[in-house]
Amino acid sequence: MSRKVKKAVIPAAGFGTRFLPITKSVCKEMLPIVDKPTLQYIVEEAVAAGIEDILVITGRNKKILEDFFDYTPELDDLLEKEGKEEFLAISRRMEKMANLYFVRQKHPCGFADAILYAKPFTGDDPFAILLGDDIIYTPEGKRPGIGQLVDCYEATGKPTVAVMEVSDADIPKYANIRATQLGERRCAIERIVEKPAVKDKFSNDAVIGRYVVESDIYDIIRRTPPSPKGEVYFTDALQALAREGRLVGCKFEGKRYDAGNKLEYLQANVEFALRDPALADSFRAYLLELAAALRG
Ligand code: G1P
Repeated sequence: MSRKVKKAVIPAAGFGTRFLPITKSVCKEMLPIVDKPTLQYIVEEAVAAGIEDILVITGRNKKILEDFFDYTPELDDLLEKEGKEEFLAISRRMEKMANLYFVRQKHPCGFADAILYAKPFTGDDPFAILLGDDIIYTPEGKRPGIGQLVDCYEATGKPTVAVMEVSDADIPKYANIRATQLGERRCAIERIVEKPAVKDKFSNDAVIGRYVVESDIYDIIRRTPPSPKGEVYFTDALQALAREGRLVGCKFEGKRYDAGNKLEYLQANVEFALRDPALADSFRAYLLELAAALRG
């Protein structure tokens, strides 16, 4: 019987070069979608899935992330005095959300190396991993993206990755898999390879940034040889699990945005604004007006 997944790890040490120049002084996890930093969406997804403890793996110049989740007594006192209950609730929301822990990756050596820093936090427990660039929207009442993976892990007892179909043009951006279907939304992964060229793809099924793994992943990462680029790929560690028939893919339901890509980041802003009851009507009216003007 697999154990319940109550812990999550969020690697957040990257430089965010795709968003220069803003990322010279604002870390990419703080870039807002409408009014919330992308990291808040990730934390909320984990909490909605039943995760209780979250470790954020940061790096230099990321102190702002800790501050964001901290108490803000001066602000809260002011809002309370002024009777601004609605804003007070927003301010306090993050403080109460989950138990958050932070650790710094000493050198920017990539995703697999960052995960090694989680060992004292997870101990022998299974844990979820959520990459900050991937935002998954699921409608109210639906199981969140990482929750669907947790269910798959708890049902199969096997480490699980999120799978999504992509176009040929996007194949080189993601880990790519060869798998056998296990049911409507699950597959047994036989091969997984990091960012192949289109001509080398196994399929159009890509792995996006949600995973549930067990504590043996640490030894596997340590045993995995570095890629020709000098970095140990997390995907290569997952390949060791696939080889043993221990890796499952979960074709999650929900809409995923790559918040690390400027176009999709803008799309996410537009679509989340349209889902915000306070903005939806006026923003929609503006978009329709703009669309008409663009059509000329
Ligand atoms: C990372 C992983 C890759 C995965 C992708 C999902 O790549 O290395 O296997 O498919 O996230 O978003 P990155 O986007 O950090 O280059």
